[in-house]
Amino acid sequence: MKQTAKLPTPDPIAQQHSDALLQQIIQTIEQHNNWLSFADFMQMALYQTGLGYYSNGLTKIGIGGDFVTAPQLSPLFSMALGNHIADVLQQVPGSNCLEFGAGNGQMAADLLLYLDSIDCLPTHYYIVEASAYFREIQKKNLAKESAHLKDKVIWLDRLPATFSGVIIANEVCDAMPVHRVQLGKELCFEQGITVANNQLQWQLQPLSNPQLAACCDNIRAYIEHVPYLTEINLQASAWLTTVGEMLAQGAILLIDYGFSATEYYHPQRHQGTLRCHYQQQVHDDPLRLIGLQDITAHVNFTALAESALVAGLHVAGFQRQADFLLAGGILELSQSAENETYQQLQNAAALKRLLLPDQMGEVFKVLSLAKEVTMQRSVISDLRHRL
Ligand SMILES: C[S@@+](CC[C@H](N)C(=O)[O-])C[C@H]1O[C@@H](n2cnc3c(N)ncnc32)[C@H](O)[C@@H]1O
Repeated sequence: MKQTAKLPTPDPIAQQHSDALLQQIIQTIEQHNNWLSFADFMQMALYQTGLGYYSNGLTKIGIGGDFVTAPQLSPLFSMALGNHIADVLQQVPGSNCLEFGAGNGQMAADLLLYLDSIDCLPTHYYIVEASAYFREIQKKNLAKESAHLKDKVIWLDRLPATFSGVIIANEVCDAMPVHRVQLGKELCFEQGITVANNQLQWQLQPLSNPQLAACCDNIRAYIEHVPYLTEINLQASAWLTTVGEMLAQGAILLIDYGFSATEYYHPQRHQGTLRCHYQQQVHDDPLRLIGLQDITAHVNFTALAESALVAGLHVAGFQRQADFLLAGGILELSQSAENETYQQLQNAAALKRLLLPDQMGEVFKVLSLAKEVTMQRSVISDLRHRL
């Protein structure tokens, strides 16, 4: 993916969507004293009904779309993940899977097919999806790709009171709205969005939420120089506490790009980790292409591990994606897959993308959280000491 300032021009229909969303955002800002936190802006840009990036029917995940996630590269990703999941399902009889943010449903379809092939299907495969548009795509794709297993899949509108089994979220925390804060010598400010001449602009204001002040105090322990601009994902922490408390027995596997706190607040990242993805190009201006581009921030896995502890979870492992997939047997799976030359070439290309440190192998991590189960594969090349 290229770093670029020159981005492709949207087609007229996409531009219309974007203009309509921009007007809604401007109205909302004006109703809020001409300032909106970046988290509220990001919530609208990504999830506003019918118009946000994940809700407007224009989103494209996969090759030829805006960005590619690991499950799109090869079923080998979901199969190796499936071995980790099977280990847990076998310890909790009658248990289920619950996937958050299933995108186009590729991982759900591949996981179900693989778990079926090793005779380890969950009782149900639940999906919680923030986007009504993606929910429809998931239904269509699952009916096509794993038709005989489609009755296993249930979409939930709200979380169950209690859950046993495995909870999975691939690239979901990075898509949750974040606050942006700027730490100065003594004071901290919040970067939000204001409107001037019908245009969106950044503007610093005092912190909008008392929780942010506590987070800023914590961040000071890591940073050497100010001013330091960074993101705080209050939503991911609160979400994980809720989900962790809901889990009676089983595991949570969080796969995402990000770092432990020490690396997250590295001097190199003094401008934060916000990234926008549009037609396979990456840049760092979320005020462009409103509703047409993905907006993400890297995940602070130390903050997630702290929320997990609050929810009574055991941090069972923290691995690079490459080590997690190797522990799940991805090489053995690729060798036992179809032996045709074309398939072999495809597998080799996918393994490179998934495993190599300069591709997805290093910056993507897996946080394995457990309650009353053991996760033997999660301690291979474990990085918990870095959290
Ligand atoms: C970057 S996409 C990843 C999709 C898929 N997991 C994959 O790997 O291809 C993020 C997904 O998370 C969903 N999402 C974001 N926040 C969510 C939340 N709080 N609960 C459920 N889904 C959420 C989005 O709608 C979208 O489907």
